[in-house]
Amino acid sequence: MEETDRAGLLKAQFGAEFRWGVSTAAYQIEGAFDVEGKGLSIWDVFTSRRGKIKSRHHGQVACNFYNCFKGDIELIKQLHIPDFRFSVSWSRLMPSGQGPVNRSGLDYYSRVIDFCLENQINPWLTLYHWDLPYALEQKGGWTNRDIVGWFSDFTELCAKHFGDRVKHWMVMNEPAVFTGAGYFLGIHAPGRRGMGNFLPAIHHATLCMAEGGRVLREMLPQAEIGTTFSCSHVEPYSPSLKDQAAAKRADALLNRMFIEPVLGLGYPAADLPVLRKLEKYMKPGDEESMVFDFDFIGLQNYTREIVKSSFFTPYIGASLVKAEKRKVPLTTMGWEVYPEAIYNIIRKFDAYPQIKKIIITENGAAFSDQVENNEVHDNMRVQYLQDHISQVLRAKNDGCKVAGYFVWTLTDNFEWAEGYHPRFGLIHVDFETQKRIVKDSGKWYRDFLKEGL
Ligand code: GAL
Repeated sequence: MEETDRAGLLKAQFGAEFRWGVSTAAYQIEGAFDVEGKGLSIWDVFTSRRGKIKSRHHGQVACNFYNCFKGDIELIKQLHIPDFRFSVSWSRLMPSGQGPVNRSGLDYYSRVIDFCLENQINPWLTLYHWDLPYALEQKGGWTNRDIVGWFSDFTELCAKHFGDRVKHWMVMNEPAVFTGAGYFLGIHAPGRRGMGNFLPAIHHATLCMAEGGRVLREMLPQAEIGTTFSCSHVEPYSPSLKDQAAAKRADALLNRMFIEPVLGLGYPAADLPVLRKLEKYMKPGDEESMVFDFDFIGLQNYTREIVKSSFFTPYIGASLVKAEKRKVPLTTMGWEVYPEAIYNIIRKFDAYPQIKKIIITENGAAFSDQVENNEVHDNMRVQYLQDHISQVLRAKNDGCKVAGYFVWTLTDNFEWAEGYHPRFGLIHVDFETQKRIVKDSGKWYRDFLKEGL
């Protein structure tokens, strides 16, 4: 993008209906992991295992959002952010994942929702952002088909208690990541590995996504119901046929595996043959049960991936060429800064005629921020956000049905296996004192959103 395009970026260019927000997730911010009847989640247990998380960090306190939510929601208001996406912790609501309900958990989320509404902030609620109740993992977790029933009951509980006030729902956060990292690579909770775990987890997550959608639609016919997907624009390393074929397989794995069954297209097994093995877990009627007509699809994009053929990588025959090796600008996650990726991803998903509406439910970057005199001059993040929002506008102006954009994330928080090292927030957190400082990126977003108010 030209410098001038960025500088001229105005909220008004997106139209009055466009939604602007900020996203978070329960385990990454709440802390209070064992108070007032909360059960353990797989992340509580995984983080206690040696060698799993950088510096042995964990989410026991995190940003203490459980106790500080009023202050943080007031900050959202001060930044003029109208939409706030957060998730509920299943094990705070149902300590064993099924059966008895924890009244204090219900009250807590009610207070959060009410406080948003009192401050004219719209709550957008994600049902599942990776923190499965540990009691369910002991029964097989996502590899156990019974999860469809457990998930359906949990969805029903949330719809019943929060549906009078929450109008925007997301069933799941990034199923490709929690199944891939949690059940194939073992680098996220619950730390399981191999195809024997990955394949059933994929299929049951797909079934739960659609089932969750159906429960919400039936109980809350007025609600706007979506679900979110991780997606990275994929390009081949070279024009060789081998690399092109590898890129196609990686694209099927990273971008198509979960959305296509939901849209009624089935798993993309023609382009990623290993997915044929999913048949073992399919029962009669599943093809239909996997389908749900979501009101919107949440896309979460951070970067692009460059892929080359790799004979030695089992199942997929492809590997990623890291940004560091390619000597391109990158974030502290090691991800390439490549704003056009978000444009390409919107175009890609927009091409599915079954998708009614696209919301960017996450986009943001981690950089090594420094506090100087109570300020954080995170120019790289300001530029990252401006460049990406400009690319969203480009897609919108092309006629794509993109209708909202949420920054990841409000405050620096627990970044899964990376612990607290990568800082993604618009607001800096000192994890010793819990002091918040609005970064320059937060101030930029505030000024951008303030226009016309
Ligand atoms: C997403 C995830 C978030 C956050 C973000 C940055 O994959 O949904 O929880 O961690 O990435 O890595």
